[in-house]
Amino acid sequence: MEQYGYFDDAAREYVITRPDTPSPWINYLGCEAFFTLMSNTGGGYSFYKDARMLRITRYRYNNVPTDAGGQYFYINDGGSVWTPGWMPVRAKLDAYECRHGLGYTRIMGEKDGLKACQVSMVPFGSDALVTKLTLENKSGAAKDVSLFSFVEFCLWNAQDDSTNFQRNFSTGEVEIEGSAIYHKTEYRERRNHYAVYAVNAPVQGFDTDRDSFLGAYRGFDSPAAVFEDRSRNSVASGWAPIGSHNLKFTLAPGESRSFIFLLGYCENPQDQKFVAPNVINKAPAKKLLDAFKTEAQFDAAFKALAEYWDGLLSIYHVSSGDEKLDRMVNVWNQYQCMVTFNMSRSASYFESGIGRGMGFRDSSQDLLGFMHLIPSRARERLIDIAATQFQDGSAYHQYQPLTKRGNFEVGSGFNDDPLWLIFGVAAYVKETGDISILSENVPFDNDETVAESMMEHLRRSYHYTIDHKGPHGLPLIGRADWNDCLNLNCFSSTPGESFQTTANFESGVAESLFIAGMFVGVSDDYARLCREFGWQEEADAVPAHKQAMEQAVLRHGWDGEWYLRAYDAYGHKVGSNECEEGKIYIEPQGFLVMAGVGVKEGYAQKALDSVRKHLLSEHGVAIHTPPYTRYHLELGEISSYPPGYKENGGIFCHNNPWIVLAEAVLGHGDRAFDIYRRTCPSYITDQKLHHTEPYVYSQMVAGPYAPRFGQAKNSWLTGTAAWTFYAASQGILGIKPEFDGLKIDPCLPAFLTDLKLTRKFRGSTYSIHMLNRAGGEKGRVRVTVDGREIGGGLIPADKAPAAHEVTVTLE
Ligand code: GLC
Ligand code: GLC
Repeated sequence: MEQYGYFDDAAREYVITRPDTPSPWINYLGCEAFFTLMSNTGGGYSFYKDARMLRITRYRYNNVPTDAGGQYFYINDGGSVWTPGWMPVRAKLDAYECRHGLGYTRIMGEKDGLKACQVSMVPFGSDALVTKLTLENKSGAAKDVSLFSFVEFCLWNAQDDSTNFQRNFSTGEVEIEGSAIYHKTEYRERRNHYAVYAVNAPVQGFDTDRDSFLGAYRGFDSPAAVFEDRSRNSVASGWAPIGSHNLKFTLAPGESRSFIFLLGYCENPQDQKFVAPNVINKAPAKKLLDAFKTEAQFDAAFKALAEYWDGLLSIYHVSSGDEKLDRMVNVWNQYQCMVTFNMSRSASYFESGIGRGMGFRDSSQDLLGFMHLIPSRARERLIDIAATQFQDGSAYHQYQPLTKRGNFEVGSGFNDDPLWLIFGVAAYVKETGDISILSENVPFDNDETVAESMMEHLRRSYHYTIDHKGPHGLPLIGRADWNDCLNLNCFSSTPGESFQTTANFESGVAESLFIAGMFVGVSDDYARLCREFGWQEEADAVPAHKQAMEQAVLRHGWDGEWYLRAYDAYGHKVGSNECEEGKIYIEPQGFLVMAGVGVKEGYAQKALDSVRKHLLSEHGVAIHTPPYTRYHLELGEISSYPPGYKENGGIFCHNNPWIVLAEAVLGHGDRAFDIYRRTCPSYITDQKLHHTEPYVYSQMVAGPYAPRFGQAKNSWLTGTAAWTFYAASQGILGIKPEFDGLKIDPCLPAFLTDLKLTRKFRGSTYSIHMLNRAGGEKGRVRVTVDGREIGGGLIPADKAPAAHEVTVTLE
């Protein structure tokens, strides 16, 4: 089987061994405000905070060849032109390797005895992409090397940049000073920010106008300036501004030279924008460049980045005896959680950075995988999310990261949205014990005049469901629930109409079993938060609401072998054996069992058996089966996809961990792990078939009915990251932050017999040794803390930080 790379666990890197991966395999550099997406061939783009509104470099989605645009380094070695990442020139290399690490990417290419190695990172605390490029002459003769750098600037607003050509072919402006190129389009009017691209050495030439550099009718693969070995020293005026430096030098045999390139974002106070008429104030850029003038400075920042990740990844660590599990839990899954926290669903190679921003539902779930890493940022995020809620408890479906304002592009009225906020806040309080977040004053719809406590936001969330029930006493679905494509009130027959914002037949009866599961699932946590806040009466009312919902599910939501998915606008069943297609869905089986519904009645076990019987495949659990073979007006977008793709019968990885967690609720360790393993990147065997990066989760793997069964799409930005980390760390390995302490409650597969874990929690460190003799079921769990046995597995939170030795036995 063709392999394209492997994990280097010691280095915490994924190593790509050939450049022609099935699709670009990317990495995310940056974890605060400045971000770069970088592929294994050097493609990608940078932005500041918001991929739509402050895009720094240009990238062409849906282009041929794919992955067009990036930070390129062209080498002209005595007439032979190549690029270390292979793209865009695609000259045959003698050696190639790309190492994606935590917040950095290293690309190495070698040709004719010249080795080029570029290490790129976004240093912690800096708004810049910094790259150290080292060229080494490994041949026996001296080499005259001519090096050309290249980035293409985006005119900030990425949407406008790719559509409004009549204007933006005339707005581009730059300044050049020494080795620094300043991109200042629109700075003359309302912007107070610019970009800088510089190198820490004198240059022989430069270009800032794309067409001068490339030559008419030429592409990134054959820039005339590089092939003719002569920069044009062009000054952009309108059209397409770029940044390109030319450096010429001789390398003796064995000699090497390094350069530091920096692409930075700078802002000036409104009254200090200019130093002379239309001459920008370069002070912030100079400060940035001064911080990365030398290799020593670069190396120090690189070390600091590694230490930052050491710190984060020391919070949860497992040594299980299965290296595939360990590398996901310890490194890659947590890393992806950080990325989804930062990006939500905005910028990836499948999300243009223009279409979607931060999702109310998505970001609330992303927090589940991020909470333990930087709780203070999670707190801030929860407040941002809550501030986009409407007064009736419903919410904008998404908001713009820069402005933190809700936008209507994907509309509102998704009736699951409000409940996710309770999920997120409960997870935060469990991790930190910080109940002050409940008293935080948070506006509705960003309007400070109608601010209320966070707890009041949660109350409106909870009551939104109570106040919006349908004929069976089940929650009304609204535009859709978690499954954005189950549009039961949409009834769209107009091509191109948005399934998410259209309501041609507002039935007022379509109901969701999924939301019912969520409601039951958050009820206890909601009651506890009420109590913490001093709302005794509200808390006391919760059990009755919860019970009513459970009753409604048991009476109207059970199909005989599994839970129904929904009732449509005519009151017909969705996800029933009675249906011709779409007979069984994964979501209600996962969420209702996770919430404990039907456990006593034996429904839960039956539901999970049915999942295995009907939905399970080699590559994971399909979202439903059989997929819809024709468009169903009454179901909406779900039936718009060809069978086996996306929400129409694909393996939607996001909800596989719900089955893992549900299996753990029933105590089935082997079955839980079996589901976990099937979508887990480190267990992928056929990298070519899988297609996307084998070190992170993708949103979807084509399901059994698809012609390309097993092929993944939409990598990186998916709730799968948070949920699988949650399922592995809490469901399987059983380390659960609770309101009162850390609960130890594993549910292990038989083959994991001896595990060591470290968990830092509220200032204390727990060193945990687990012995598993339970044979693949949960068995009886016994826990000792510092030598003393505790009943129930809950280790009470410490008053003062301490270190604890914990032993766990499962029999
Ligand atoms: C996408 C959306 C997410 C939704 C899921 C299922 O991943 O980002 O919000 O729940 O699709 O439709
Ligand atoms: C499409 C996608 C779905 C996504 C939704 C919202 O329907 O299939 O995954 O959540 O758009 O943008």
